[in-house]
Amino acid sequence: MTLPTHPGTHPRIRAARSADRLVYLASHPALFGLLTVTRRRPVVRVGRTVLVHDAQAYHHVLTRVPLDRTAEGTTGGAAARLTDGDQLFDQDGGAHRSARREVSALLGAPGVAALRPLWRRVLAERLTELPERTDLVPIVRELAGVTVAALTGSSADPTALARAACDAATAAARDHLPTLLPPLPALTRRPSAQQAVGRLASLLPDGRDAALAVAAVNTTMAALPRAAAWCARAGLWAGLGPDTSPALAVELLRLTAPSPILPRVAAADATVAGCPIRRGDRLILVARHAAQSHRDTPDDPPAAAQAVFGAGPHGCPGAALARAQLADFLTALAPHAPRVLRSTVDRRAALPGYAALLVGKG
Ligand code: HEM
Repeated sequence: MTLPTHPGTHPRIRAARSADRLVYLASHPALFGLLTVTRRRPVVRVGRTVLVHDAQAYHHVLTRVPLDRTAEGTTGGAAARLTDGDQLFDQDGGAHRSARREVSALLGAPGVAALRPLWRRVLAERLTELPERTDLVPIVRELAGVTVAALTGSSADPTALARAACDAATAAARDHLPTLLPPLPALTRRPSAQQAVGRLASLLPDGRDAALAVAAVNTTMAALPRAAAWCARAGLWAGLGPDTSPALAVELLRLTAPSPILPRVAAADATVAGCPIRRGDRLILVARHAAQSHRDTPDDPPAAAQAVFGAGPHGCPGAALARAQLADFLTALAPHAPRVLRSTVDRRAALPGYAALLVGKG
């Protein structure tokens, strides 16, 4: 879809975009500053690190370049080191295909339909009335926790479960997110990452679901508040309802790119957009730029909308669920046409997002 253009919308869209960009830049200023500066080149090498900005190059890497799923400094590597391994992120080949089949059964259309009443109940309880000042972040935390508790069969308090998943991601991100500073010695950080993952695993009937819980909760915590803030600042509530919110949800996920970079490592030599890649090179795949989040109208809208969820055999299996949750969240908020009263960026979070998003009736 293209963004609605009610009279006076355009300056508000610019304002919404700028406010959201600050959330992204505030989370890792040096890294995201570098990515912004190099954005115009499709692929940029800095030593043994290759920054991949271009949509086709990003897709090419995810679908055709062999990736080392357990290398240091990658999502799979962090998942493998902090658990006993054998998580979707670090698997390859047959083991991965069979785990994907299981997760697809949970997250396919029937799975989403079964989970939907649970998060709708949270929305009905928390958003049917909108008090004068409402922080949307705890509501999203509860919604994410309820969903993951149901997915994993956990009887833990949903908010505690969601907090544990965020703490595990924060600790693991210190391990695997690329930084321009030299890494801290492993001994000073590993125990706390392992403790955080251990605490999360202790809340789950099967500790092997820890990576699923981390993937689901952290992206939801990043995505839903930022999308609501975008919608409020851009003035997009008018006419929004169950029929129109699914398309706006897809577009807001593209504009916010909640998981903005995918750190990977090449497992073989390759050439991407004319740039030679060597086995062992670190690849920073910039989902935000592949999705053209900085543009109102991307070159290829369906491909751009998909890019925020990755591509290929490891592409996100939770995309349909994420889109349905965001559509329901927007639909629940729309009657109040909320405006943003105050927002605070969460500088601890693994993904760019808000620690608090106070809204009031519009
Ligand atoms: C806005 C929400 C979300 C975004 C932006 C997002 C994005 C992503 C991305 C970029 C990847 C890596 C894809 C690749 O390597 O090609 C991924 C993987 C994954 N996501 Fe999501 N995700 C979201 C929500 C969810 C939810 C709600 C769940 C579960 C309920 C989920 C479960 C997973 C899992 C299990 C993987 C690993 C798949 C594999 O390695 O085979 N995600 N996600």
